[in-house]
Amino acid sequence: MSKIILTGDRPTGQLHIGHYVGSLRRRVELQNSGDWDEIYIMIADAQALTDNADNPDKVRQNILEVALDYLAVGLDPEKSTLFIQSQIPELTELTFYYMNLVTVARLQRNPTVKSELKMRNFKGGSIPVGFFAYPISQAADITAFQATAVPVGEDQEPMLEQCREIVHSFNSIYGEALTMPNIMLPDNAACLRLPGTDGTAKMSKSLGNCIYLAESPEGIRKKVMSMFTDPDHLRVEDPGKTEGNPVFIYLEAFSRPEYFAEFCPDYQDLAEMKAHYERGGLGDVKVKKFLNSCLQAELEPIRKRREEYQKDIGYVYEVLRKGSMAAEQKAAETLGKVKKAMRIDYFSDEELIRAQTEKYQAASN
Ligand code: TRP
Repeated sequence: MSKIILTGDRPTGQLHIGHYVGSLRRRVELQNSGDWDEIYIMIADAQALTDNADNPDKVRQNILEVALDYLAVGLDPEKSTLFIQSQIPELTELTFYYMNLVTVARLQRNPTVKSELKMRNFKGGSIPVGFFAYPISQAADITAFQATAVPVGEDQEPMLEQCREIVHSFNSIYGEALTMPNIMLPDNAACLRLPGTDGTAKMSKSLGNCIYLAESPEGIRKKVMSMFTDPDHLRVEDPGKTEGNPVFIYLEAFSRPEYFAEFCPDYQDLAEMKAHYERGGLGDVKVKKFLNSCLQAELEPIRKRREEYQKDIGYVYEVLRKGSMAAEQKAAETLGKVKKAMRIDYFSDEELIRAQTEKYQAASN
């Protein structure tokens, strides 16, 4: 069986370092490992519209931003198919058929839908059907490409669970047409989820606590130097907490031994730096300056590459157009199998015409 990856992002803003450590960095590694037969990376504009129906222009503008971020981190259109969800009509068609396999009660129980409903405060009866059903459309995204692995953050676990249920129901009712996908969670614990620079659980544009991949050097510095740390670490001599301290969580994700040698030779590695902070005697400013150096070193090549692609937007759209054509071909193959399994392949089923011809011939004899 082919090893196939599918994953994607909603185009609702530029991607930030949370996306980078949570998924983008991993995708590039997977891409370059040569272990995968096919890799599909989707800009999920149709899904973004399920809760941005009144703001299509935001979605439209951010398709390019996300594509630039993809190329900037090193996703390579020669190795990974980069495409736009809405340009693949087969996905909508699959969604419609999968809807028959999912109950309203099951969607209501989906924890991601539940928490998003709260966050976006659609009140009472005002939940758009499209939003409510987006886990089904996500199952279409995954199965259309016969994905065996879906690298996503832990927040997407309920989506994968729901997708696997749909695959199971489909295959048991209609016969094995769909591939069972597996979630692929980030491996390094620090990569699971970066908190915001303000210490809140998640980076989010509306909270203004993100560091973007395209952030300017000065922007990075300002945001790092004003980061939340351990609120009880008041004086340099005080012992400090590193656990749950965003500055140390970021260092966990971005520092490398060679950065210590280069930017902060007082310590061999992060363990030593942490021990000093916990003992007392290491001030926040010094740690933040080191974090700033690490982030500058990590983000500079990404920003430089982005600037190059920004000079040729036509090329970026061409990448997406070609990717979408290739993706559609793959999705059409799956849709063909699905329709055959569901017995709605009337015109390509010669047996159907023959049997019905015979039936009426028999009747008229
Ligand atoms: N739900 C994902 C997000 O919010 C985006 C997405 C849409 C996706 N379809 C997908 C991710 C299929 C993985 C597989 O970021």
